[in-house]
Amino acid sequence: MEKESGLFERKNELFRGKHSRSIRFWHWSTFVITTGSLFTVLLAKTLLNTRKNIPVVQENLRASNIAITVGQAKSLAHEFNDMAWNFHTNLGYILAGLFGFRILIEFFQPKEQKVIPILKNTLKSLRQPGTDLKDLKYYLFVRCAYLFFYLVLAVQVCTGLFMVYSDDVEDLKKLRHSVSDIHSVGMWVLLTYIALHIIGVVYSEHSKKNSGIVSDMINGGQN
Ligand code: HEM
Ligand code: HEM
Repeated sequence: MEKESGLFERKNELFRGKHSRSIRFWHWSTFVITTGSLFTVLLAKTLLNTRKNIPVVQENLRASNIAITVGQAKSLAHEFNDMAWNFHTNLGYILAGLFGFRILIEFFQPKEQKVIPILKNTLKSLRQPGTDLKDLKYYLFVRCAYLFFYLVLAVQVCTGLFMVYSDDVEDLKKLRHSVSDIHSVGMWVLLTYIALHIIGVVYSEHSKKNSGIVSDMINGGQN
C-alpha cells in the first residue's frame, strides 16, 4: 500500500479520510443547489406545465364569467412555466459558479486529496503484491465515478449556459434544440449518479470498514 503519500494509511478503511474545508463547502452547496435545480425541472414539467394549465386557467376565469381563448390562457399559463425556468437558470448560474470554484480549489487541495494523484496512487497500489484487490478495485471504481460526475456536470453547465446565450444570437438558435436534448439526457445521467452515490454512501455507513464517511464529509475527518 502507498505509505509515503499518507493516502492509504488506514488500509481497511479506504473511504475514511480527510476532506478540506473547501471541498466540504463545495460538496454540500452543490448538493443543495443540484437538488433545488432538479426540483425546478420537476415543477416546470408537472404542476407548472403550460399545456396542462390551459384548461385550469380557462375554467378558473369561466367561474368569474370571463371567457378567454386558448391562446390567451396559454400565454398566462406560460408565464408561470417561465418563472420556474427562470429560477432554474438562476440556480444554474450558482451551480456554474460552484463548478468553477471546484476547478479552482483543485489547485490548492493537499496532494493526497487531489483527483488525479488519488487515481494514480490507487493504480500504483493495485500493482503491489499482497494488496486486497477487491476493496481497491471498488475504491478505484468510485473515484472514476466521481471523475465521470465532474464531466457530466461540465456538460450540464456548458449546455445550460449555451441555451441562455443562444437566446440572443440568431445563428445559434438552430442548435438550441440539440443542445437542449443533451442537457435533458445529462439530467438522467445525474439522477442515476446521485441515486447510486447515495446507495453507496449508505452501504459504506453500514459496513464495519467505512462507517463514519458522512461525518468525515461534515467535520473534515481525522485520518
Ligand atoms: C446532489 C447530490 C450529490 C452530489 C452531486 C454529490 C457529489 C459528490 C462528489 C463529486 C464527491 C467526490 C468529491 C471528491 O472527493 O472529489 C462526493 C463525495 C461524497 N459524498 Fe456526495 N454528492 C451528493 C450527495 C450526497 C449526500 C446526500 C451524501 C450523504 C448522505 C453524500 C456523501 C458523500 C460522502 C460521504 C463523500 C465522500 C466519499 C469518499 O470519500 O469517497 N453526498 N459527493
Ligand atoms: C443539475 C444540473 C441541471 C439539470 C439536471 C438540468 C436540467 C434541465 C432540464 C431537464 C431542462 C429542460 C430541457 C428541455 O426539456 O428542453 C433544462 C432547461 C434549461 N436549463 Fe438546466 N439543468 C441543470 C443545470 C443547468 C445549468 C448549470 C444551467 C446554466 C445556467 C441551466 C440552464 C438551463 C436553461 C437556460 C434551460 C432552458 C429553460 C427554458 O426552456 O426556458 N441548467 N435544464
